[in-house]
Amino acid sequence: MSEERYLTVALTKGRLAERTLDLFEEIGYPMEEMKDKKSRRLIFTDEEHRLRFFLAKGPDVPTYVEYGAADIGVAGEDIILEEKRRVYEVLDLGFGRCRMCVAGPASAGELLKHHEMIRVASKYPNIARDYFYNEKQQTVDIIKLNGSVELGPIVGLSDVIVDIVETGSTLRENGLVILEEVCPLSARMIVNQVSMQMETERIRSLILKLREQVQKDAAREK
Ligand code: PRP
Repeated sequence: MSEERYLTVALTKGRLAERTLDLFEEIGYPMEEMKDKKSRRLIFTDEEHRLRFFLAKGPDVPTYVEYGAADIGVAGEDIILEEKRRVYEVLDLGFGRCRMCVAGPASAGELLKHHEMIRVASKYPNIARDYFYNEKQQTVDIIKLNGSVELGPIVGLSDVIVDIVETGSTLRENGLVILEEVCPLSARMIVNQVSMQMETERIRSLILKLREQVQKDAAREK
């Protein structure tokens, strides 16, 4: 049996992991046991390709990769931007597409236009700060929340929110609208900086296979 070192891949639990596993299956790396939704197991091995996959919470994926506990990670661009970890971002996987937006009641549009000192609630305080302070040069008060951020303007905690919009139904159902678009988002593959030097060939060949498959999938969807 090969003694080659395992390459470890950290996946974001949930839908992103499912889409990533489908992609690995398409390039000939099926991980059937990982698809069992009832299982509580967190780590899985592909002996044939000397790969090890584990499931983590999104914000932890760049942490595992920066510290080298995983050579490779798959996470949303939102998480990568927010966490600001020292990792290489190597591939746009083309799924998990959504947008980071400033949203709120339509009336908050005026506050944004006049650069008023407003309160911004977000799960993404770094992204919100970068956007308002660096891009817009507007001083704001940023309040960190951990979820259901849409509540912010409804209950009077904040004037607006900075959050992900995918279908737009959460905003609609809560009487909020998109006021500004911060950036488009999708799932990204990241690589540990030392692993990239030490395992260049294996990682490059994996990236190439995945990139080709992503392009094929995109062409099929058109
Ligand atoms: C995300 C995001 C929005 C919603 C957007 O929340 O924070 O609330 O999805 O999706 P939509 O545009 O398709 O409605 P998530 O489901 O992750 O839950 P959370 O609010 O508890 O973080």
